[in-house]
Amino acid sequence: MIHSKFNLQGKYSLITGASGLLGEQHAIALLMLNSNVILTDIAFKKLIFLKKKLIKSFPEKKILIFKMDVTKEKSIKKTAKDLKKKNIRINILVNNAAIDSKVKKNQSMTNSGQFEKTNSNEWTRHLNVGLMGSMLCSKIFGEIMSKTQKGGVILNIASDLSVVAPNHSIYKKGVYKPVMYSVIKHGLLGLTKYLATYWHNKKIRCNAISPGPVENNQSKNFINKLKKQIPLNRLAKKNEYIAAIQFLCSDASSYMTGQNLIIDGGRSVW
Ligand SMILES: NC(=O)c1ccc[n+]([C@@H]2O[C@H](COP(=O)([O-])OP(=O)(O)OC[C@H]3O[C@@H](n4cnc5c(N)ncnc54)[C@H](O)[C@@H]3O)[C@@H](O)[C@H]2O)c1
Repeated sequence: MIHSKFNLQGKYSLITGASGLLGEQHAIALLMLNSNVILTDIAFKKLIFLKKKLIKSFPEKKILIFKMDVTKEKSIKKTAKDLKKKNIRINILVNNAAIDSKVKKNQSMTNSGQFEKTNSNEWTRHLNVGLMGSMLCSKIFGEIMSKTQKGGVILNIASDLSVVAPNHSIYKKGVYKPVMYSVIKHGLLGLTKYLATYWHNKKIRCNAISPGPVENNQSKNFINKLKKQIPLNRLAKKNEYIAAIQFLCSDASSYMTGQNLIIDGGRSVW
């Protein structure tokens, strides 16, 4: 039985970038607490696949999917309008979407990330998804929450790179974590504090979580180098943030707002 503070029975949680690696885990976390979920992403085929998969484990819950681009206000407003037509009010928003190039088996990423080669198009493309997208979704869904007696919860998915700089020595020579990633994740902490205080009297709590790196078929060499930067000497398993997501999205964290929960195997304290 779930402790009553964790129970999200009758609530609706919306997740952005839901069809990615961690989006599915966030959905599982919230479904486990009895929440209904609204899964949104630009990758709609993946959402269809994810819904089919999740329904098998949570047949009694409502799982809705929407193609929604967080960089386009029109697209977010359309989702909000469609939900309103269905009489659905969002209680929990998880700002998860980001451009996060995965490290492949050969330790390369889709671009070199070299700072000197950063251009304004790439800068804008990344910031639009990770930072502006979180602001727009918070604005549109947060305003809806602010107009009800019950308020709601906004959770921003940051990263251990919201509090420390990347150590590029883990990548292949000439490959770097793009500067945009650091700026977005540090910026999300600012957005978190701003929203926590802006809507403090509307019963809206806003927090961030800063996960460390997740093991996901990276090369052995990369994992070995990264492990050395983590006191617990390993990467996270993709399901190791579930309990934290449940804590931050439910009344279990009812006295917490404007904070950043760092779960990184100790990487940021070394
Ligand atoms: N995977 C990790 O190791 C890790 C570690 C720390 C933090 N994070 C953070 O967790 C979050 C999820 O990471 P992930 O590993 O699942 O990433 P992912 O790349 O697997 O998923 C990101 C999702 O965002 C979607 N997306 C991209 N642009 C979008 C847009 N304009 N509108 C809507 N959706 C869009 C993508 O289609 C994708 O499904 C990100 O914010 C990431 O920075 C991940």
